[in-house]
Amino acid sequence: MADSPTKKVGTSVESSERKFSQHKHKERLYSLDNTYSYDDLRLWYERLIKNYSLDEQPELVCELKIDGLAIALTYKKSEFVLGATRGDGFVGEDITNNLKTIKTIPDKFAANISDLEVRGEIFMPKSAFEALNKKQMEVGGKLFANPRNAASGSLRQLDPEITRQRDLSMFSYYGRIDSNEYKINSHSQMLEFLKEIGFNINPNFKLCKSIDDAIDYCKYWDTKRQSLDYATDGVVIKINDFNLQKEIGYTSRAPKWATAFKFPPEEVSTVVENIEVNVGRSGAVTPVAVLQPVYVSGSTVQRATLHNFDEIKRLNINIGDRVLIKKAAEIIPKVICVTEHAKNKAGAFLPPEFCPSCGTRLVPVDGEVNLYCPNTLGCPEQIKGRIEYWVSKDCMDIDGLGDNIVSQLVDRGLVKTPADLYSLEVDDFLKLDLIAEKSADNLYKQIQQSKITSLGRFINSLGIRHVGKETSEQLASFFGTFDALKNADYNQIQKIDGIGDKIALSIIDFFSNSFNNDLLNRLEHYGVIPLKAESSKKSDKFANMVFVITGTLSDTRDKFDKIIKDNGGKTSSSVSKKTSYVLAGENPGSKIDKALGLGVKIINEEEFNNLLNNL
Ligand code: IVH
Repeated sequence: MADSPTKKVGTSVESSERKFSQHKHKERLYSLDNTYSYDDLRLWYERLIKNYSLDEQPELVCELKIDGLAIALTYKKSEFVLGATRGDGFVGEDITNNLKTIKTIPDKFAANISDLEVRGEIFMPKSAFEALNKKQMEVGGKLFANPRNAASGSLRQLDPEITRQRDLSMFSYYGRIDSNEYKINSHSQMLEFLKEIGFNINPNFKLCKSIDDAIDYCKYWDTKRQSLDYATDGVVIKINDFNLQKEIGYTSRAPKWATAFKFPPEEVSTVVENIEVNVGRSGAVTPVAVLQPVYVSGSTVQRATLHNFDEIKRLNINIGDRVLIKKAAEIIPKVICVTEHAKNKAGAFLPPEFCPSCGTRLVPVDGEVNLYCPNTLGCPEQIKGRIEYWVSKDCMDIDGLGDNIVSQLVDRGLVKTPADLYSLEVDDFLKLDLIAEKSADNLYKQIQQSKITSLGRFINSLGIRHVGKETSEQLASFFGTFDALKNADYNQIQKIDGIGDKIALSIIDFFSNSFNNDLLNRLEHYGVIPLKAESSKKSDKFANMVFVITGTLSDTRDKFDKIIKDNGGKTSSSVSKKTSYVLAGENPGSKIDKALGLGVKIINEEEFNNLLNNL
């Protein structure tokens, strides 16, 4: 229809709501198992030789693992008819019209082939990603965190014209064809064939005669990958011979004839331009390194926390120093070491004596490495921190109330505590810079709507020390009402499974503070009252079991977290001897190494579902 959202350019429909029709893949798109060390890679190869009684060393093909999105293209009578995302490997989304705009996907090819399926990875070159973000910044649009997200967002546009402008590309790494007819007996021959008929093949693939050759390939690209204009997070190593591949076969989620070697986190050199001192909502003062912007593990990094002043001393770091940085657990930028001190260096950066926000003399706290600003009620940065936390996603989730607006509200004296938010009128927002009437109206509504919230969220929003999202949910389901928690004594709280002495003391401390009680009274006055918690418990199947979730699963981690808890289990963010299972999705990261080291059982989603259904 002419007024269909698909006909509108730049429609505001969110990607999660968009509907592309589903496509059932003719043959499953498997995932890959990962290896993280050269020893493991060698073991994988030697095990194949042993388990399948192979006489000779089988040939391998090494390819760069492109950090993009897997797709499958169907060609009928040499013409492109349908393209779909990988989805869960069985069913994906039909994004044919968007894929047709990508230059490296041929519409048709010269050879006469009735049925061909080509698989590969869609990616956005790093240069195109930087240019896109620059453009987005100029027009005030959404910035993408990394090229992979930019490629994904660009592919899921309802208007193919937007996809066309996004400079996407594809490397093909698989072709499904009647290989007997075409005398294609190996993966390397298939790649050459695809290249010949017009597909874009990554030129860096290599046929290797031994596992040593493959390891050399991995080592070479680990150091050279930064110079490529596309993101790669590892090497895919595949047995070359098709007959051997067939003989070796698949596990429930991945081929046994292939593995992905994941590169260790990238270490990149940059310069410390400044060391800023931040004041958090608890008054803790933390130094942050402001860096010369540098691209590392998929995104541009400009800041790295230095944690505390002991860490500054340990690193012996100061402004102007050249440093090595990496992303810890591939997410949080971390300074590893100083590689070259600034000329005229005056030693390590010294801790400030006074709070950079309110000028109060900083104080140490017994047993802690941080310095604190004791001006809890008057320090603007602490106030802003508490309000920003209050409105954030896992707390009261007040949409649209960004840091900039919070900052203005606090600086103009309109808000001192979270309760003040509920006294604001539309006119108050109109006094702020760059707020139009519609946004002011919207902000007012969002704040009013947030008054009714779940007990878990409400507890989390209070920012009680040592009480995060998980503990808040636990307290909510244990006590059921806010009054029950407020009136609980130390012994009662401390008895709850998983809540120890430190948390219990902190909760008691929170409710005995007059500032907090005043805040709670005022919140109640404005009608901010949490709902009673409902128990969602379904079974005790996972009683006494601790799960660690890692990697990308078919749904959000929160969803799996809830399933585990609803069935009596616990989740933890780090692997230890106490972990019962690591539930691993795609690209699981270093937790797998730890689990392997400790002999903790690793299960995939299918095995998790079986466990739940069969217990
Ligand atoms: S082969 C049956 N080759 O990695 C083998 N995959 O972690 C399946 N990927 O879903 C894939 N570059 O999206 C293969 N050269 C490459 C690849 C590659 C990137 C992705 C692909 C797959 C994921 C598995």
